[in-house]
Amino acid sequence: MKFAIVSLVALTSFISSVPTTSPNAGSSKKNMIMMVSDGFGPASETLARAYVQQSGKYPPNFMSVIDRILVGTSRTRSADSFITDSAPGAQCFSTGTKTYNNAIGVSPDYVPLGTNMEAAHRAGYKTGLVVKSYIADATPSVFAAHAANRAMQDLISEQMAGLVPEIGRNVDLMFGGGRCTFIGNATKGSCRTDSYDLFPVMQKNGWTNIFNRSEFNALTNTPKLPLSGLFTLGNVPYAIDYPDNDVPSLVEMAKKALDILYTASKDSAKGFYIMIEGSRIDHAGHSNDAGAHIREILEYWETVAMVSEFVDAHPETAMISTSDHECGGLTLGRDNNYFLYPLTYQKQTKSHEVICTQLLAANVTARGDLVTNVIAPKYLGVANVTTKATSKILAASNTSECYMALADALAIPANLAWTSLGHTGVDVNVYAKGNCVEDVKGNMENTDIGNWITKYLEVDLAPVTEAIKKTNVFQYAFKRPNTTYVFEY
Ligand SMILES: *[C@@H]1O[C@H](CO)[C@@H](O)[C@H](O)[C@H]1NC(C)=O
Ligand SMILES: *[C@@H]1O[C@H](CO)[C@@H](O)[C@H](O)[C@H]1NC(C)=O
Ligand SMILES: *[C@@H]1O[C@H](CO)[C@@H](O)[C@H](O)[C@H]1NC(C)=O
Ligand SMILES: *[C@@H]1O[C@H](CO)[C@@H](O)[C@H](O)[C@H]1NC(C)=O
Ligand SMILES: *[C@@H]1O[C@H](CO)[C@@H](O)[C@H](O)[C@H]1NC(C)=O
Ligand SMILES: *[C@@H]1O[C@H](CO)[C@@H](O)[C@H](O)[C@H]1NC(C)=O
Ligand SMILES: [Zn+2]
Repeated sequence: MKFAIVSLVALTSFISSVPTTSPNAGSSKKNMIMMVSDGFGPASETLARAYVQQSGKYPPNFMSVIDRILVGTSRTRSADSFITDSAPGAQCFSTGTKTYNNAIGVSPDYVPLGTNMEAAHRAGYKTGLVVKSYIADATPSVFAAHAANRAMQDLISEQMAGLVPEIGRNVDLMFGGGRCTFIGNATKGSCRTDSYDLFPVMQKNGWTNIFNRSEFNALTNTPKLPLSGLFTLGNVPYAIDYPDNDVPSLVEMAKKALDILYTASKDSAKGFYIMIEGSRIDHAGHSNDAGAHIREILEYWETVAMVSEFVDAHPETAMISTSDHECGGLTLGRDNNYFLYPLTYQKQTKSHEVICTQLLAANVTARGDLVTNVIAPKYLGVANVTTKATSKILAASNTSECYMALADALAIPANLAWTSLGHTGVDVNVYAKGNCVEDVKGNMENTDIGNWITKYLEVDLAPVTEAIKKTNVFQYAFKRPNTTYVFEY
């Protein structure tokens, strides 16, 4: 494990007040790096910090790379629920407006809304998306697609690839997973409902498409753009599972993307705008998998450290890091016990996702051996899992039950708890650094972040909204549930 992230800067150096400046001040060339730690709540930062502090035997005032740039908190509710999902959560960052759960770049009335990334691309910025999820998943999509529901993955992929004339192409570079929504249903591994093969059409439209580690390693800083690198059919594996998978990590993808976009915009009056997402911090919350969650966070910290160095070297750059919402309802301390043992997770070697796939595929006779001889000692890293925990794992009849059973096996000794397999509504932390970020601070609405980016980039969303208004946002007939709009915006 790499700890380039480690630093012990004293908390007090962040208490002095800073003058407020308009994001439009300063030189005209600007880069924007928006980082989204999906499903990363404040308890997750505390857990990861305690884990590193204890495993590295650092003093108790240890600061992670993001602790050092904490500037405030963000409220996360969507237009129709106190508990948001990633789609409207991230749309606040791309359009500065709230919408209903599951919406992709549309208003509550299904009107496609121009995004700051689309506006930036039209203004001459180079643009990029780097994620560990499907590239057509909610967070990346809301920057460059418009659909009534996040499940409309076929349509969203076509829009992301710039194949829908009403929108045009707005993305110069995309790295991540989710190749399956780009390949027709006649090909093995496809997850499209139709036979449309996007890659050949993209290639005809000028895209460079790469698919594996060796092609990634061979990339120079000046590949022909637009460039897509979708390295897995589904999600990019969890960091904890990297040893079994030869794929570029988040930090590798993000570093390469910065080098490429920086080089491509070097001689231009405009800079670049990239969104980098630690997508699977969220997924590990959904599977109540603290071991995988911690490793995703450490990988995210490493990415922030890399970005932070870029910002230091290129003062025309701003970076913001925040979350769309918390996930899992993680809490530290449980059952009236006053202790926390984060190092309980130190010897976990595989994600709940991998473990449960293997467990549920095994027949009932084989499971006992598997749990006692493999899962407990090798994957969870505990020789003495209680019989109560073991029987709960053995009794699991589906993935959710398996996740919760595995969670208990370590969460009880660690003395932490998950309260949900879904999202929660707590405020999340906001981190920022670089060009003009002095007024990104305090307790904010998620929409404030998107509005700040739009203002910082000096772009106007209204003309984009006007230009794309004829875009079809329905892959199939859809009507959102008639929820009462408790929080009207
Ligand atoms: C594949 O897509 C075609 C339309 O492009 C459709 O007619 C067919 O039913 C699909 N096949 C499967 C197995 O989904
Ligand atoms: C990577 O992709 C290229 C181009 O599709 C292919 O020629 C090469 O064999 C692949 N390499 C591996 C290791 O799969
Ligand atoms: C169960 O799985 C084990 C290990 O894979 C195998 O040896 C055994 O034959 C299987 N038993 C049944 C009833 O399928
Ligand atoms: C399991 O083993 C560890 C390490 O030896 C020990 O600290 C812990 O108390 C044991 N837990 C149980 C439930 O026996
Ligand atoms: C898993 O199984 C339990 C018990 O049969 C059931 O209550 C639950 O709804 C199932 N969950 C899923 C996601 O299928
Ligand atoms: C939605 O539901 C509310 C009350 O539940 C009702 O008053 C309203 O007419 C409904 N709206 C639509 C468009 O169906
Ligand atoms: Zn989620």
